[in-house]
Amino acid sequence: MLAIETSCDETAVAVVACNKDGVAYRFAVEEYLVHTQIPVHRKHGGVVPEVAAREHAVRLPRLLDQLSSRLPLKKLQKNVDAVAVTAGPGLVTSLLVGVEVARTLSYAWKKPLVPVNHLEGHIYANLLTTDAAVNPQFKFPVLALIVSGGHTELVLMKKHLSYQLIGSTRDDAAGEAFDKTAKLMNLPYPGGPVLAKLADEGNRTAVNFPRAMLDQKNFDFSFSGLKTAVATYVQKNKKTIAKDVAASFQEAVVDALLTKTLRATEAHQPKTVLVAGGVAANRALRERLRTSFAEQFPKITVLEPTIKYTTDNAAMIGAAGCVRFLHGYTKDWRDVTVDPHLPLV
Ligand code: KG4
Ligand code: ZN
Repeated sequence: MLAIETSCDETAVAVVACNKDGVAYRFAVEEYLVHTQIPVHRKHGGVVPEVAAREHAVRLPRLLDQLSSRLPLKKLQKNVDAVAVTAGPGLVTSLLVGVEVARTLSYAWKKPLVPVNHLEGHIYANLLTTDAAVNPQFKFPVLALIVSGGHTELVLMKKHLSYQLIGSTRDDAAGEAFDKTAKLMNLPYPGGPVLAKLADEGNRTAVNFPRAMLDQKNFDFSFSGLKTAVATYVQKNKKTIAKDVAASFQEAVVDALLTKTLRATEAHQPKTVLVAGGVAANRALRERLRTSFAEQFPKITVLEPTIKYTTDNAAMIGAAGCVRFLHGYTKDWRDVTVDPHLPLV
């Protein structure tokens, strides 16, 4: 599978091999290239959609060129079964660059296309590994906590490629909360990872920020009040210690995410629980997930993606694309379009 990802501010291509043995999948990431646009967007303090799309248009052909110097395009054409591409959700003009290149390759190479939902890619990133001795698998039902820049969702999977939304954010996504809070604390872009790094050095019990919606019996989240609470706290307390504010904020986010995930586990009895999306790179979240489940649900398999497959990349699109391909979900290049709001469910 040749895979292409251009949904936001990372231009990425990958070549992923996959086979199915009974119910088990085995993946090998043969090529992995990511070009990050962070330096381009830093001066604007956030992703500028038009700039991102122009960057993808410049960078994607260069990445394919780079790929062809390692793996001649003729050979790639011969060996790939299909081209997988992120069709949404994401920034519409950014998505269009990846999809148009994928459609062109599909037409020229006479290979089918596999449109992939970006969030599905994040979920399937959990099956990729850098250690050939480990071969993680989904034992169904799977409960997925999706935490990215634009989404915060609890999703139940009873089988491959089948999703049931059981909870979501009412306002900001977890990653968005990290990014906006970092901005109001005057931290540089990209806010989330910078704030997280600062938080690792701070005291997480310094400030008791609110954990919204925990008294409600649903599996939904809300993070905009937390962001406002940090803003008010920073305004009122002129001599705040940034690392303590960051650690206390992070603790509140992790608390809310874990509380609802544990409750959803109790209600839906999954055999596998996984975390997916950029915020899954957060060390505190990973640790809490591991320790909470080891204590409360030791029989459940907890998966977390390898860091290089956690934030946006094309290998995860290749993994989901392979599974789709093996299930017969392919499309003609004429029938593939982008959908910036493509739903997972
Ligand atoms: O999945 P992703 O790379 O792109 C989207 O699909 O949105 O997620 C990006 C989000 C951003 O909001 C970023 O701030 C957040 O993930 N993020 C983190 C960390 N690394 C990335 N948030 C908290 N801690 C991190 N270490
Ligand atoms: Zn993403």
